Amino acid sequence: MEFKNLLIEMSDGVATLTVNRPQALNALNSEVLTELECALYGLEQDAGAKTVVITGAGEKAFVAGADIKEMAAMTSYEGHQFALKGQRVMLFMEKMHTPVIAAVNGFALGGGLELALGCDFIYASAKAKLGFPEVTLGIMPGFGGTQNLSRLIGPNRANEMIFTGKVITAEKALAWGIVNEVFAPEELLAKARETAAAIAGVGTLGVGYAKDAIANGLNMTKEDGFRYEASLFGVLFATADQKEGMEAFVVKRKAVFQGK
Ligand code: CAA
Repeated sequence: MEFKNLLIEMSDGVATLTVNRPQALNALNSEVLTELECALYGLEQDAGAKTVVITGAGEKAFVAGADIKEMAAMTSYEGHQFALKGQRVMLFMEKMHTPVIAAVNGFALGGGLELALGCDFIYASAKAKLGFPEVTLGIMPGFGGTQNLSRLIGPNRANEMIFTGKVITAEKALAWGIVNEVFAPEELLAKARETAAAIAGVGTLGVGYAKDAIANGLNMTKEDGFRYEASLFGVLFATADQKEGMEAFVVKRKAVFQGK
């Protein structure tokens, strides 16, 4: 499928999805959000896409936010619908079994940071800048940022970032646990793809169910989370990948997983 604002490249079971609107620093307008929804849905259905890396086109930005020029004229109703539209993308990434890694190559501001936080984890370039400048525009984060950031780093640091609109460096984002690793700009995408390819090479059903258990378990009591984990663990014993993985271990050969 061809997209106007996205590029998708497949290699080694890894789909690299690039938000490609560099003239607007890859800002997310309604059209880009629709395309992201379609592309992610397609990738989830594609057995060849075992993991996804999301990045931004150009040297400067991952995604510089939701499109301010589009939002400027919105009514209250349209603003609400726009937030729900962006949130659908973030929630879809959380629900899809395919792991999604953000490779933050530059500015990740507002909706851009929300896109990164919607991924399963974030790698960043040393020159990345992250923040929630919404309050400087008279609004607040609307694509899940208040929820995802506070759950990730706790309310105090999330409050400081969101209330001040201050933009932080990749190093600080690393220290605060927003990003998992920081790389030299020229290494970032290769490192993200390397990790994505390593995940694509293991039992992806186990990875998908683990993602499901972590994401859903966070909204449960610990005991319910344990029960949910045990159920998914049991489901995996009905798969060919479980038989293959364990048999390969016993006879000392490399497992060949089929994702079924
Ligand atoms: N929306 C629309 N256009 C944007 C944009 C955005 N979020 N960010 C950048 N652009 C456009 C600029 O308007 C400019 O276009 P023109 O050449 O047509 O004027 C082009 O991208 C290049 O940007 P700059 O000239 O501003 O580049 P810079 O290097 O001087 O500054 C920047 C870079 C600091 C990232 C600056 O562009 C900026 O502050 N952008 C806005 C960041 C922001 O506030 N993001 C949050 C948006 S609100 C949101 O996301 C709500 C939500 O939670 C859902």
